[in-house]
This record gives sequence, C-alpha cells and structure tokens, in this order.
Amino acid sequence: MKKMNLLNVTLVFIAMLMCQNTLFAQDKVDQRVEEIMSKMTLDQKIGQMIQITSTSGDDVPDWVRDAIIEGRVGSILNAGTPIAIEKLQKIALKEGPNNIPLIIGRDVIHGYKTIFPIPLGQAASWNSELVERGANVAGIEAYEEGINWTFAPMIDVSRDPRWGRIAESLGEDPYLTSVLGAAMVKGFQGEQLSDEEGRIAACAKHFVGYGATENGKDYNAVSIPDYHLWNVYLPPFKAVVDAGVGTFMTAFNDINGVPASANTFLLKDVLRDDWGFEGFVVSDWESMSQMMNQGYSEDLKDVARQSANARLDMEMVSASYQKHLKELIEEGEVDVDIVNTAVRNILRSKVQLGLFDKKYRGVPKNSSILSATHKADAKAMAIESVVMLKNEKVLPLQQNQKIAVIGPLANAPAEQIGTWSLDAVVEDVITPLTSLKEVYGDNILYAEGLKNSRDMNTSSINKAVDVAKQADVVVMFVGEDAILSGEGHSRAFITLPGAQETLIEEVAATGKKIVMVVMAGRPLTFENIENKVDAILYAWHPGTMGGPALADLISGKVSPTGKLPVTFPRTVGQVPLYYAYLESGRPANPEMLGIPTGTPLDPVGLSNNYLDVSITPAYAFGYGLTYSEFLVSEPKLSSTEITSSESITLEVVVKNLGTVDAAEVVQLYIKDHVASTMRPKKELKGFEKVNLKAGEEKVVTFTIGADQLSFLDRNGKTLLESGKFTAYVGNSSDNLHEVSFTLTNLK
Ligand code: BGC
Repeated sequence: MKKMNLLNVTLVFIAMLMCQNTLFAQDKVDQRVEEIMSKMTLDQKIGQMIQITSTSGDDVPDWVRDAIIEGRVGSILNAGTPIAIEKLQKIALKEGPNNIPLIIGRDVIHGYKTIFPIPLGQAASWNSELVERGANVAGIEAYEEGINWTFAPMIDVSRDPRWGRIAESLGEDPYLTSVLGAAMVKGFQGEQLSDEEGRIAACAKHFVGYGATENGKDYNAVSIPDYHLWNVYLPPFKAVVDAGVGTFMTAFNDINGVPASANTFLLKDVLRDDWGFEGFVVSDWESMSQMMNQGYSEDLKDVARQSANARLDMEMVSASYQKHLKELIEEGEVDVDIVNTAVRNILRSKVQLGLFDKKYRGVPKNSSILSATHKADAKAMAIESVVMLKNEKVLPLQQNQKIAVIGPLANAPAEQIGTWSLDAVVEDVITPLTSLKEVYGDNILYAEGLKNSRDMNTSSINKAVDVAKQADVVVMFVGEDAILSGEGHSRAFITLPGAQETLIEEVAATGKKIVMVVMAGRPLTFENIENKVDAILYAWHPGTMGGPALADLISGKVSPTGKLPVTFPRTVGQVPLYYAYLESGRPANPEMLGIPTGTPLDPVGLSNNYLDVSITPAYAFGYGLTYSEFLVSEPKLSSTEITSSESITLEVVVKNLGTVDAAEVVQLYIKDHVASTMRPKKELKGFEKVNLKAGEEKVVTFTIGADQLSFLDRNGKTLLESGKFTAYVGNSSDNLHEVSFTLTNLK
C-alpha cells in the first residue's frame, strides 16, 4: 500500500513537471510571438494573413520576391522546387521585415513521392497504425524538400459516390473518419505541432460539410440539418482538434446559406469558443472571393469584412485582405484585435514548427524519398486497403497455370496513383502486370483490351478474348482512370466507364474463371457483370506499390483483410445510401426485390422501398472477405444495466477457423432505441483489427459508457438519455450479433 502511494506521488510529480514544462514551452512561444508582434506595422501584420501561389521551377519570380521583401505575404503554396523554396526562405529571413519565415504549404494528400493508396483506400484498411505511418512517410518526404505544411487530412464525411472527392475522404462514417483522421494528424505532426525533424503541420479540411454537396456535384450548395451537423459532420473535426491539429481550412460551400469562409458560428462559436482551437484557419483556394458568385458578398471589400469578422486568419490566393483589410480597420468595420489575434495564431505556428530557428530547410543532402522502407510501408498499406468482395473458390491463384491478364488498368502506372498525387514519380510506380510476371513468369499472358478505362473503341477486345482462351484463368483490371475522381471530377453515372462492361462480358463468354480487380476512386456499381466474374478485389487507386501488393494478394502470399469504409449501392438511384440511416415509420422488407410485373399494389403494401431495386446495398459498410473464415462469438456484457457514470464491457471471442493466417475487423455498433431526437439504425462506436494465425483465437473487449451512448442535440449540447440500447458486434454492418442493455439512474 505504502509502495503504491509512493508510486502515485511520483507519478503525480512527473505529471506536474511535464505540465510545467509544456506551460513553460508555451510561455516561451508566446513571448517570442509578442516580441515579433511589437515590431510589426499593421501592413506587415496583414501580410502574414496572405497566402500566394508561386510557380513551379527553381526560380523566384520578381513579383514574389517583392511581396516577401515588402512584407506582403506570410505563406506560399506550390512554391516550386526545393531550390526555389530555399531561395524563398532566404529572402524572407534575410531581407523580409522582421525576418519572419514563410510557411510553405502543399497538398501532400496520400504520399509525397512514395504514393500510398488514396485516402478512401487507406480507410478500407481500418488500421490506424498504418494510416498514421502513411502520413508520417508523406510528411518526412515533403519535409525533406522544404514543405512545412500539408493540406490534409480531408475529413469530410462522404456519403455520395458521385462526388469525385469521395476518393480523398475516409468514407461515410463519422467515427471511422475521426479515428483515422486523428491518426493522420499524428502521422504528419507527431503529438503536437513541433520542430521535430520530419514533422509538418496538418490541416483539417474542409470545414465543414463539403462532402454533403447537393447531388454529388462539386462546389454545390450544402444543406445540413443542425442535428446532422453536430452528429455526423462536425465530430471528425472535433476529434482532430483533440489530436492537436495545427490548422484548419474552410470549405468552398455554404452551410444552410452562409458560406463556410464567412461563417462566424462555425469559425468562432464552435471552433474557437467551444472547442478551444488555437491554431490558424486558412480559406480554400479563392473560397473567399467566390462568395461574390455565391451571392453572399457585394464586392471584394465585403468579402474581407465578412471573412475577417468570422475569424478567418489566412486568405488563400484571392486578394481581399491584401486590398481591403487595412481600409476596413481604419473605417472601424473590422476590429484591429481580430487582425492581431489572427497574426498571433499564424506566428505561433511558425515558432512551434521551428521555422525561425531552422532558418530554411535547404536542398536535401540525404533523401529518404522512395526509400525501401517507405515503399515497404506503401505496400503494406496497399495490401490492407484491398477489399475482397467476392470469391467463389478461385483466389488465390496457384502457380503452374496460364493466367490471362486483361484490362486497361493492368499496366497503367499514372492511373493507379489516383487523384492528388502532385509529386508522384510515375516511373517508380510498379504495376500489377509487372509484379504478376515476377510471380508467375511466362505463365502470364497479356492483352489490354481497351486503351484506357474510358475507351469506347471495342476493336481490340477480340485479341483479349483470344488471350483469355489460351489461359486457365483470367485476371481483369478494370475501373476508373485517375482523372475520373478528385476535385471537380464528379460523375452522374457510377458504372464502369467506356466499353469495360462489354470487355468483361465478351471475356466471360469464353467460360473461363475471372478475377475482377477494380481500381477506382469511388464505389462503382457493377450489378450487370457481378455474376459474370468469380472473384472481385476492390483495390481503389493503390499507389506506387499497388502492383506488388496485388500480386501478393492474388498469389495468396497474404490474405485480403480490407473492409468497406463506405456503402456500395446497387445503382446510382439509391444514392445517398449509408448504413446509419434514420428509420422510416413504414420500414420495408429488405427481402423484397421490387414488385413483379402485374402484381397489384395492395399485396406489397406501402412501405419505404423502391419499385425497381432492393433497398439493400450491393455491399454493406464494414464488409470484406478474407482467404480464411472467422467466427465472432455471441457477445457477453458485463452487465445489462448501466448508469450514466459507469461503463460496462462487451466481450467477444474472434477465432480464425480456416487454414491461412489473416485478420478480421471486429466492429461494434450501438442503437439507441427511443430518444428525444430519432437516432440512427445503428452507429459504429468501436473496432479492432485482429491478426490471427490459422486456428488462433483472441478475446476482444469493448468498453461502453457515456461516450458511446450520448449524442448531441441541435445546439451541440451532449445528451445522455435513459432507456434501451442494443450493441451489435460482428465483421460487417450486415453481419452482426446483438445484445441489449438499459441505461438507468440518470441524475
Ligand atoms: C482544394 C483544397 C486544396 C487547395 C490547395 C483547393 O482547390 O479544394 O483541398 O488544399 O486547392 O491546392
């Protein structure tokens, strides 16, 4: 007992020391910021709030040099090569007023030069350690080339596969997005913004609601009921604030009629006052000046007034602050304290990142770019991102058989890196064709069938059919070219583009077994051909190491372990389709597959269904197969009653019943049966990816308490309401055991 007390006292002492050290460090940062602030003119302060875009190449254009020397710029995005960045920082530190370094930003989204799978693919790994490592690798490579700040992670909850930027998202679920978004922030920054080597500032974007863009078209209007804003769209942003994210970016869109870049409620009341965010907020590319197009701002002066008063600290590319902020302060339209606070936020970040002391990064002497370790990490991530949707005893493919590799994406390095790969080295990308040849040698036959995924010219399909005929089994690489997803690249049809369905149908007519590998930036619909293929691997855009990763999976060296981070609809007409929906007063029977011709309406009833398609998805959120078979046991609760101040535990045993090693993602969902505001059908509240050797088992324990059972009301107030709850546990949102309990005794 005595020993215990001594230990406790020591721990408290250490904690106090750590806390004091942090406070001390913070004091030093603040002191330094104040010293700089005291020497700055108003013009120079406004200069810190301006971000310009420079050029590619090694040189610094004269207009950029002048802007730096005159103190008219605080940050540059897309600043050119490391040589140019070194020059820029030298100018800022030697010739700029008060010797303030620039913060150099760039979109380092899923890798810098070693490209990892697109974020939606990374989310399919359900592996936060790998996701953190991916961001870390990206950050290190970018840091080595002088970049201080990435515009990632994008944590917009995305429930519309038409939207091109779903590729950049972490999927449809607020909890999964929160966990993985926080992991990315840690990967880029470490525990907090710091001057540690290889660390750069992260940026939570796009605040907020960009993923809810009306009809999936990019840059469209956004209407989100308060209740959904608090429970669906805001939680990931709160999670990354808690994880110490250094910066935020506002969205292009409005939220219920008020643009995100002038939204005082979101930027001040929620982000600063409620959540205590202390970093700085940047606009999106011209998202401020675009408020004139949105019918919210009269002119550029109005833009500056509205955004500054909403507490937007830095303007990306457009020039409203540069042209009008000073005048607005002089006229009393913007309080000078708003500018002082914004500049403090920006300078604090620059000090924390060590930009003053490191002088400038300089051209790297030793580069870890595309190192063997980075590639190994990218491969590990690519392997875990692949989701096996179907396997009728065809995968993995044994040696000693002829394999026809067919399709426009089998050997398309620039396509497999996907959207937002500004700095990718395409020559370093390894394609599936190359890797499969390494594994299966001369047994690989190849025909592309179509020039690219959008190709409508069917003249080469015959050749592909001939190749298929010579083989024992066919592997088809189909999907979307990189350009079909990403910013400004939404689609109204989400089927396989071009003549790819025809290609698959004609190859299938040979009667050969087909493995379909889909590389795409979004969930696609392929109901027409699903039954023509025997196995489906959904590989997203898998990045630099997509080829070796897929070869390991196809050959059975490793098992697929990915799970869908987003629901796959059967047809675009079902969109938006997500598992955590609010229930209808007239629920439909999920078995009902539409109304057969000639059936009168009455027998079917009037329910929440479609006449022409099932209400179920093609593949559910959380779904994904492995080469093994897993059993998740019935859950055991430590108690079926819980009070508001307690927590209970839920235990399941997960067992690998098969003969190969693999991993299962055990998922916990909760349903609150009756509440003051309707609650979703079920909501993900926990998950654990468990690696198990053949025959091995493990107990997985989840804790259920206030965090898992509460929700937010329309004003953002946390509610914990008594009543019946059900916990669901299993390996997919549509394959779950359930157990109920009651929350009582609320004070
Ligand atoms: C995008 C942002 C990106 C920015 C800078 C914008 O068009 O919406 O996500 O960070 O450009 O490149």
